[in-house]
Amino acid sequence: MKPLEIAPGVYSVGVIDWNIRDFHGYSTYLGTTYNAFLIVDEKVTLIDTVKKGFEDELLENINQIIDPKKIDYVVSNHTEMDHSGGLPRVMHKIGEDKPVFCSKMGQKNLSKHFRQGFNLQAVDNLSELNIGKKTLTFLETRMVHWPDSMFSYLKEDRILFSSDGFGQHYATLERFDDQVDEGDLMYQAKKYYANILLLYSPLILKLIGKVQELGLEIEMICPDHGVFWRKDPGKIIQAYVDWAEQKPKRKAVVIYDTMWHSTEQMAEKIVDILGEEGVRAKPMHIRSCHRSEIITEVLDAGAVLVGSPTLNNGLFPTVSDILTYMKGLKPKNKVGAAFGSYGWSGEAVKLINRELEAMGFNLVDEGVRVQYVPDGDAFEACESLAKKVAAALPAE
Ligand code: FEO
Repeated sequence: MKPLEIAPGVYSVGVIDWNIRDFHGYSTYLGTTYNAFLIVDEKVTLIDTVKKGFEDELLENINQIIDPKKIDYVVSNHTEMDHSGGLPRVMHKIGEDKPVFCSKMGQKNLSKHFRQGFNLQAVDNLSELNIGKKTLTFLETRMVHWPDSMFSYLKEDRILFSSDGFGQHYATLERFDDQVDEGDLMYQAKKYYANILLLYSPLILKLIGKVQELGLEIEMICPDHGVFWRKDPGKIIQAYVDWAEQKPKRKAVVIYDTMWHSTEQMAEKIVDILGEEGVRAKPMHIRSCHRSEIITEVLDAGAVLVGSPTLNNGLFPTVSDILTYMKGLKPKNKVGAAFGSYGWSGEAVKLINRELEAMGFNLVDEGVRVQYVPDGDAFEACESLAKKVAAALPAE
């Protein structure tokens, strides 16, 4: 990816990772980018680096603008290795005594990632760094999504460098939101929120409130992944508010696995009835849908139904996987229900209920258990379950 001047003296110098398909367990079917930014002012400043292995391309991009040795300052908005992995090579190139500005937690976390003693300069929340004609303001964004996370705001150009916030795992040559398909972009942004930020929703609402209170004018949001928001930055901010609030919609996700298609038949019956009741319902077979896609659908669903066969007196392993993943992300305001077939012991439904209750879901009843293969009575029970879920959801 060639460097691009996104504002006078401000360059995008990051790289594209076209081939990554698994980002620590998150499915990245469109690849991703590791964005970094160079501000050429009296003090030449680099904001963030890239994942280890991509440093040559980053340095070459910088070199097309200015000799990397002329970089005076580095800002590290986030310690996670996809943004800091390139720091040792960059510092070696530009001079290891150059200051690296980071949050207080960034100072601790960077020193625990890289033991070679960089000149880490902790900045206070809302402190400013004058770099010549331009000024950077640092906003602590602790736990959005690591303890060290911060945003940097370039006052004169009204650009918010938002680290992982507002990011998307979306590899494109195009650098701006108005140059790509809006539906694809918003899906990738939603998927990013659901899988990386969902559990921090209360903090995100506070943070957005704080940014509004500060009256920061934002013309462009530049995250560390994906494209930059310049067409209407308010739109993605409002989307974050909506996703964080998790107001239930008349939508249901029916997540299941199956051994001999009995639980699958139950899932399909439930989906059909939900549809008849005016609920946007979607079956998601766990071995056909990646967990990160399932959570993306869960984000704005009002109901989550989970089906599992009983295997060895327990849950089917893939069902345990998705329940564990979902529980960690702390979705809120959901109606829940369980179903599943069994041969002789039938513990799965009870175990699912226990997990859904632990997540604070509102269970519509004790769920539907069917021995071996569903018959007419079993399908009636599924119908009844689906109708209870539909009745518990708000009208559209
Ligand atoms: Fe893109 Fe939390 O790193």
